Amino acid sequence: MAAKPAILVSRKIFPDVVEHLRPHFEVDHNDTDGVLTPDQLIERLQGKVGAMTTGSERIDGAVAAACPALRIVANIAVGYNNFDVPALSAAGVVATNTPDVLTETTADFGFALLMATARRLTESEHFLRAGQWNRWALDMFAGAEVHGSTLGILGMGRIGQAIARRGALGFGMKVIYHNRSRLDAATEAACKATYVDKATLLREADHLILVLPYSASSHHAIGAAEIAQMKPTATLINIARGGIVDDAALAQALKERRIAAAGLDVFEGEPRVHPDLLTVPNVVLTPHIASATIQTRRAMAMLAADNLIDYLVKGQPRTPLNAE
Ligand code: DGY
Repeated sequence: MAAKPAILVSRKIFPDVVEHLRPHFEVDHNDTDGVLTPDQLIERLQGKVGAMTTGSERIDGAVAAACPALRIVANIAVGYNNFDVPALSAAGVVATNTPDVLTETTADFGFALLMATARRLTESEHFLRAGQWNRWALDMFAGAEVHGSTLGILGMGRIGQAIARRGALGFGMKVIYHNRSRLDAATEAACKATYVDKATLLREADHLILVLPYSASSHHAIGAAEIAQMKPTATLINIARGGIVDDAALAQALKERRIAAAGLDVFEGEPRVHPDLLTVPNVVLTPHIASATIQTRRAMAMLAADNLIDYLVKGQPRTPLNAE
């Protein structure tokens, strides 16, 4: 019997997903929470035709050149800024991601972070845990209204639309959005969202949520100049990617109360967090967990596994980012 092709799973995943792969492949599984260094990754990829990766591993032309057997990389994420897709295409390596399976879960979290930020959930909990609560007071931890306010969405893909629906239908919010391209009228009507230019979005949003992909053109899409255009009472929520926000400029603005608060699930250079963000009280910080429910993370891993199987065994990946 011919030997099975070899693949690498770069991080700990669900055991049943590994079992799903085993009938088809020799699986080299880095069954730890440790991120392989670039050198370790290249070493482990030798002779491997496929890899399941996460946003923590950079896969570019240099990796493709150093690993000539590699035919497909399947990211366990919808975002793929850790891939150099044009370079992988040039090297004949198929790249895939995990769209759709995380849309609603990520939108739920976006809303949770918005609510926690607007209503000062973590700040007030820390106060209580520190034993500082000794009386009820009318203005204690008074935050910003969510229902009936204006929700601004920057980036209106699947997750942006799912957030718009929650805001408009669940909380009676006025929803405005800005995107590279305007949605068609039927989609706008379904999520009750109105297209505006970026300046209007910044000026009018009570809560501005970022859901756009990271690229050279979205780097620091929100910096000091953009924050200066926002309402002093506004909140800013980033569940997209670090690097879209200039974290140093944001920390300074939060310190000076130029906007009311921020909720951040992603950071420039994560897992490092800008030290100034750790010292300001009006920010809610979470460690890149927007899609983290057990069901969704499992579905993401399973879709990445199916991309490997469908491409390497059947010839056609499910959710390709490029053509071979
Ligand atoms: C995604 O799917 O892109 C999430 O951010 C996890 O990396």
